[in-house]
Amino acid sequence: MKIAVGSDHGGVELKEEIKKFLNREGYEFKDFGTNSTESCDYPDYALPVAEAVAAKEYDLGILICGTGIGIGIAANKVPGIRAALCSDTFSAHATREHNNANILTLGQRVVGPGLAIDIVKTFLNTEFEGERHQKRIDKIAEIEKKYNK
Ligand code: RB5
Repeated sequence: MKIAVGSDHGGVELKEEIKKFLNREGYEFKDFGTNSTESCDYPDYALPVAEAVAAKEYDLGILICGTGIGIGIAANKVPGIRAALCSDTFSAHATREHNNANILTLGQRVVGPGLAIDIVKTFLNTEFEGERHQKRIDKIAEIEKKYNK
């Protein structure tokens, strides 16, 4: 499984913890930045990760900012992206099974590293259930088409 990761300055420390976990577990991943705590703009890091996931160059993405909100809003502007903010493992599980979320977003100022790693593990190890959920995802794609004319 190939994973794209990115963050702004508000998420860079948690991203480093997640990268250590991904390395330990042998996941293939690319860090799209940022690499410092210097103030930057989260859309600049959401965009390349979201585009790489939407293009299927990566199977899943992980994006982190202070809250996980801004970076997720930005990622969800890319057609084909279903970015889900999760602060608990139930949501991480449910959003893979039901929404086929392809990007997990996390808030470094919201969750501690221990919980964040559990959320990442859950997200990466849960499969989409398909069936009745697929038609709902197809309807999301229809909304994208309607506004991309
Ligand atoms: C940066 O201070 C902060 O606004 C950003 O990381 C994020 O929380 C935005 O949603």
